[in-house]
Amino acid sequence: MNVDDNPNLMDKVTALCKRRGFIFPSSEIYGGLQGFWDYGPLGVELKNNIKREWWKKMVYEREDVVGIDAAIIMNPEVWKASGHLEAFTDPLMECKICHQRVRADNKEAITEHEKSHKDKEIKWTEPRSFNLMTEVFLGVTEPKLKSYLRGEITQGAFVNFQNVVNSSRVKVPFGIAQIGKAFRNEITPGNFIFRMREFEQMELEYFIKPNEEESKNTFEYFKKLRIEWYEFLGIKKENLRFREHEDDERAHYARYATDIEYNSPFGWKEFEGIHNRGDYDLKNHRLSYHDPESGENYIPWVIETSGGVDRAALFLLLDSYHEEEKRVILKLNPKIAPYKVAVFPLLANKPELVDKAKEIYLNLKLKINSVFDARGNIGKRYFAQDEIGTPWCVTVDFKSLEDDMVTIRDRDSAGQERVGIGKLGEYFDSKLN
Ligand code: GAP
Repeated sequence: MNVDDNPNLMDKVTALCKRRGFIFPSSEIYGGLQGFWDYGPLGVELKNNIKREWWKKMVYEREDVVGIDAAIIMNPEVWKASGHLEAFTDPLMECKICHQRVRADNKEAITEHEKSHKDKEIKWTEPRSFNLMTEVFLGVTEPKLKSYLRGEITQGAFVNFQNVVNSSRVKVPFGIAQIGKAFRNEITPGNFIFRMREFEQMELEYFIKPNEEESKNTFEYFKKLRIEWYEFLGIKKENLRFREHEDDERAHYARYATDIEYNSPFGWKEFEGIHNRGDYDLKNHRLSYHDPESGENYIPWVIETSGGVDRAALFLLLDSYHEEEKRVILKLNPKIAPYKVAVFPLLANKPELVDKAKEIYLNLKLKINSVFDARGNIGKRYFAQDEIGTPWCVTVDFKSLEDDMVTIRDRDSAGQERVGIGKLGEYFDSKLN
């Protein structure tokens, strides 16, 4: 749903996430912590489904990509070489009245803050660079080793470049895929899970020959592949666009960059970054490649696609949110929906219906994530499942006891059909694959 149609969309989705167990403020009973969020029983399913679909698209469907899972904390020399200790910064300025800090390039935050001192003339300090890396101290004896929680998951792929080449059968061009947590000491975390201090990234580092034309073609190829993936997940085309980075906003490692942006309730915002990193990283880590066929030695260039799992979760929730009279429906792609099927007995006080429904549920659950519900009346159960995006509800009624058939109700059309219990597995397989 678009914000023009629903001005309180962000509040409604945030409240739904808390109420139904998608996302909670982290350590809430102690007042929470800015920039940190916990995923609940439904949120973890949503997030795992997004990651599974990404891995399918970027690794399993290809012959030229392998995956890794690198450690979050690395030798601090990595971050010196990668330029993060020097250049991974945001411009920060401080309000001289109340000492609140904001990003100097965040016009919205500045205006919002100035409104809070409406009668006073506000003065800001000069912008200064603020490093986003989160420090950690390791070991038991002083001085402890200072290292960092990774600010991007990427460096794990670069420092393992030689290990991957030596241990697998990859040859340039090839990619290393990875999904994992990254940490940034963001100056102004906010907009729910849009800007967090702990978040998850899904990235492909694709290594190619150092060649301008090949890098441009590869860059264009991945732009298309990535935007199509978001459309495949169900994000409306009109809510997606590309935006080229200006010279003054590019990350220190990028030769050029394009964002895929989403039309969110707080404006067009970055969904995923696609970067041409050239030889920046491998060169800084003093790594190169020996081409076994041509005998050439060179430093490959890198085209990177870097998306946020949390942003995908947020934008999918916003995009799929619908209201129809008093009914809320999350029209999530069934592949992404936390539960695929909900199974109900028509009446909760008839043991023969409950037993049959339980049996169906336990069988389905072995193959696809399903839920059993016998609370309230059937209409309320449909409402409750629509609100969390469950695509199909299966009801066992008295006729089911005679003909071994159940009613399947479709979330989006509200249409119903009778299907044999023995055919349910096949029925849902065909819908989900
Ligand atoms: N390795 C390249 C890289 O990290 P980035 O543009 O800084 O590039 C990539 O980040 C993606 O990670 C973003 O497009 C966004 O989806 C996600 N991301 C970055 N910072 C985030 C934050 N503070 N909270 C949530 N997601 C974030």
